[in-house]
Amino acid sequence: MKISTSTIIVTGGASGLGGACIREIVARGGKGVIFDMNEEKGNALANELGENVLFCSVNVTDETSVSAGIKSVVDKFGEIHGAINCAGTGDAGRTVGRDGPYPLDRFQKIIDLNLVGTFNVVRLVANQMQTNEPGTKDGERGSIVNVASVAAIDGQIGQAAYAASKAGVVGMTLPIARDFSKLRIRINTICPGVFMTELMGMAPQEMIDGLAANAQFPARLGDPAEFADMALSLIENTYINGETIRLDAAMRMPPR
Ligand SMILES: NC(=O)c1ccc[n+]([C@@H]2O[C@H](COP(=O)([O-])OP(=O)(O)OC[C@H]3O[C@@H](n4cnc5c(N)ncnc54)[C@H](O)[C@@H]3O)[C@@H](O)[C@H]2O)c1
Repeated sequence: MKISTSTIIVTGGASGLGGACIREIVARGGKGVIFDMNEEKGNALANELGENVLFCSVNVTDETSVSAGIKSVVDKFGEIHGAINCAGTGDAGRTVGRDGPYPLDRFQKIIDLNLVGTFNVVRLVANQMQTNEPGTKDGERGSIVNVASVAAIDGQIGQAAYAASKAGVVGMTLPIARDFSKLRIRINTICPGVFMTELMGMAPQEMIDGLAANAQFPARLGDPAEFADMALSLIENTYINGETIRLDAAMRMPPR
């Protein structure tokens, strides 16, 4: 699939890794759609990048909201060819800590956003994609990228909720690829290490150095542009499907 002729939804596209994807889609001549709850940041990025970007105020955990967003995209750009699911958040707390057991509602909130929200967008976007005219020599109709984390595999102390939510995203990748075989839609997942997003830019240098020390070569945090490049490669490469890729400079997280 060529980015230059594609319309790609990026959830969480108002900032961080998602924002980098939107910038790269537009830089390559494609159309980018920001699905995000942060209206201020989403509108600012869309205004900065111009007419090839649409911002939709969407809550990924809400069926009505995602469906309305999809309708806006179809009305403005026609077919939806790709989706990158970056909307997500973290939370930290030991399963049993000084203040007692980790609150169940916090666990459920993380699962709801990172796992259920991702699945919600995947199912609704793919339902729309299946109406696309087949593209490529294989008749492909769409390509989806989910964002998990290295925490799905080496979660640290206090990351039970976050790691479980991201492991769920990894776990559903192959079965969804199998579900989508007849629809001719591919789906892959990226497990990012630690990236130098705006938020991380505010962290103390010694914390950044400590995290970078967990990587091999290059021993630094990832650049969001490197993440965007990988996400768009997964959309473009017509043979990769059902795969989970670590993007982390061989980083392995220690227990803490
Ligand atoms: N930044 C990293 O180093 C890193 C590492 C591993 C995994 N990740 C994962 O990558 C994804 C993006 O991370 P980031 O660092 O860019 O985060 P970020 O906080 O910069 O961006 C997340 C975006 O998601 C949006 N969002 C939150 N809840 C939403 C909802 N219900 N509906 C729609 N949008 C919603 C936020 O408004 C925000 O714009 C997350 O899933 C995160 O877990 C990030």
